[in-house]
Amino acid sequence: MSSIWHPFTQHGLGEPIPCVVRGEGAVLHTADGRRVIDAISSWWVTTHGHAQPRIAAAIRAQAERLDQIIFAGWTHEPAEEVAAGLRGIMPKSLTRVFFSDSGSTSVEVALKMALGYWLARGEARHRILVLEHGYHGDTIGAMSVGQRGVFNRAYAPLLFDVETVPFPQLGAEQATLDALERACARGDAAAFIVEPLVLGAGGMLFYSPDILAQMHAICARHGVLFIADEVMTAWGRTGTLLACEQAGVVPDILCLSKGLTGGAVPLAVTMASEAIFAAHWSDDRARMFFHSSSYTANPLACAAAAANLAIWREEPVVERIQRLGTWQQHHVAALTGVRNPRVLGTIAAFEVGAGESYLSDMAPRMMAFFRENDVLLRPLGDTIYVMPPYCIEKTDLERVYRAIAGVLEHVVA
Ligand SMILES: Cc1ncc(COP(=O)(O)O)c(C=O)c1O
Repeated sequence: MSSIWHPFTQHGLGEPIPCVVRGEGAVLHTADGRRVIDAISSWWVTTHGHAQPRIAAAIRAQAERLDQIIFAGWTHEPAEEVAAGLRGIMPKSLTRVFFSDSGSTSVEVALKMALGYWLARGEARHRILVLEHGYHGDTIGAMSVGQRGVFNRAYAPLLFDVETVPFPQLGAEQATLDALERACARGDAAAFIVEPLVLGAGGMLFYSPDILAQMHAICARHGVLFIADEVMTAWGRTGTLLACEQAGVVPDILCLSKGLTGGAVPLAVTMASEAIFAAHWSDDRARMFFHSSSYTANPLACAAAAANLAIWREEPVVERIQRLGTWQQHHVAALTGVRNPRVLGTIAAFEVGAGESYLSDMAPRMMAFFRENDVLLRPLGDTIYVMPPYCIEKTDLERVYRAIAGVLEHVVA
């Protein structure tokens, strides 16, 4: 029996844990010879497909040159290449690139940058504003700015206070804007952190670019820093490189991870405006930005990210995203017996059943059905979502939706 303790897994349920031995494109091959379609991009990371040849080659070549180097006071070519590449395609005003290892750490860094900025300016702003149903990771700071619930109840005594703005439900958006306006007007808000356009783990909840733009405008008017957590939404997921683009919003701080390396190896960056960097700039060592981890800007990870950036520059990634988006629209339009079907870019989502919580027993039954049908889908409560790598074959996506039809017939009904 394996001694591994898996994440977000209740081992007491005794569910099977398949062993994957190989990945190629949108397909996973298991040790017992099954061909499984990865319809959630392995937790939303795999953009160009598994074992993408250019990314694999870049990691291999880098491993033979330089595997790891302390990043405090030292640098290396792949990191410089990634920083320059990001400067080339991300909003011009985000002039500084800080590396870390995961989406959660990119958020921790963002929060620390915001607090450091206000301390340096001598203003007593320390409150973080958050959006209801948000998810930003599972470290203590990231949980503090995320939705409270069963996931983090045990740690609640450690989580810091935030001010939560209601999610902009369709038709009730004004309540969100009013609450944000009030929270900003109090004068102690350091930053507002949001997932632009789609709240992922909160249930693939969509809201409009117009509301994103209005939320940004309120923050800008009050000088509250705007942190865009694009850990899930970036790299084309919502149809554009960044979700913020669709609203014409440029954040003060931007969190990127997941697709940064095409999903091959862990890496994250937090990009910041020059004003935020400048607030930490001094000849006083006590004012430096105090954050690091051993593997900051690991060269292998940076080589993968540089290859991802080259793919974005040189290959028709946008066309692949548009093709997948069109297929998703077509499949979702044909669904019957589901609630609130929706598609944005490459993401399709809808609700099934009576509207249960994340812990409804339908989710594990649906997951088991998908597993038995060689499709990797992982519903969030009664929300099924499909978010495959951009290279998925048309016939494989059809198989995914056939499995969904099976779930609707055999599990939900
Ligand atoms: C919007 C968002 N932020 C942060 C995170 C945390 O990223 P990680 O799991 O890499 O720590 C996630 C993970 O799903 C996410 O969706």
